Amino acid sequence: MQKESFADMAIYSVTWSDFSLRNHIHIFPQGQLYAEFDGRLVGSCSSLIVSLKTDYEDHTWSDITDYGSFSNHNPNGDSLYGADISVHPDFRHKGIATMLYNARRDLAIKLNLRRIIAGGRLFNYCKFANIMSAKEYANKVVNGELEDPVLSFQIKNGFKFIKILSNYLYDKRSLNYASFVEWLNPAYKV
Ligand SMILES: CC(C)(COP(=O)(O)OP(=O)(O)OC[C@H]1O[C@@H](n2cnc3c(N)ncnc32)[C@H](O)[C@@H]1OP(=O)(O)O)[C@@H](O)C(=O)NCCC(=O)NCCS
Repeated sequence: MQKESFADMAIYSVTWSDFSLRNHIHIFPQGQLYAEFDGRLVGSCSSLIVSLKTDYEDHTWSDITDYGSFSNHNPNGDSLYGADISVHPDFRHKGIATMLYNARRDLAIKLNLRRIIAGGRLFNYCKFANIMSAKEYANKVVNGELEDPVLSFQIKNGFKFIKILSNYLYDKRSLNYASFVEWLNPAYKV
């Protein structure tokens, strides 16, 4: 499912082996969510808990997920980190990712985490890279002047664009740029 969902990526750096997926479930079962339709797996999202040294510390996907292993998952951390989300191409625009994001928010509230953060690949930046910087592109998406399947989706789902992360993930679509996004848990109690 992930290979078909991330088919446009230069390398399958965000798809995991059976071993890795089982390991994620072993490390943080509540953070591994999937959506099923008629018995078929149609979407999934994976999360771990982290604490950054500063609120908006620069990082790469490999840094923050320990090369996708989640061995750095910290149950005492304050931030739920969205390591990936994908919906099978045949099942997009049906609200499946929105349901997964809602479930992720419910989890952050249940675990009393301060926030959810993620790095979202700037999916359509490749179409604009010759005329604007990644930051300009992200700002135009945030302002509604441009649509991006990942960042527009995150903004519509209540996330705030914080800043650009460079060299986040080896990806020809985003030219390795990602948006650092954040959702603050309104129910968080110190
Ligand atoms: C980003 C991604 C996960 C979104 O998945 P999705 O299930 O299509 O998302 P949703 O259906 O919840 O929302 C997508 C759009 O469909 C719309 N939608 C939701 N339910 C709908 C329905 N029942 N009918 C029509 N449209 C609907 C949403 O409003 C949203 O609109 P927008 O495109 O204007 O923003 C998906 O495009 C994907 O897997 N991309 C490739 C993998 C990837 O790059 N992941 C991000 C890694 S950082």
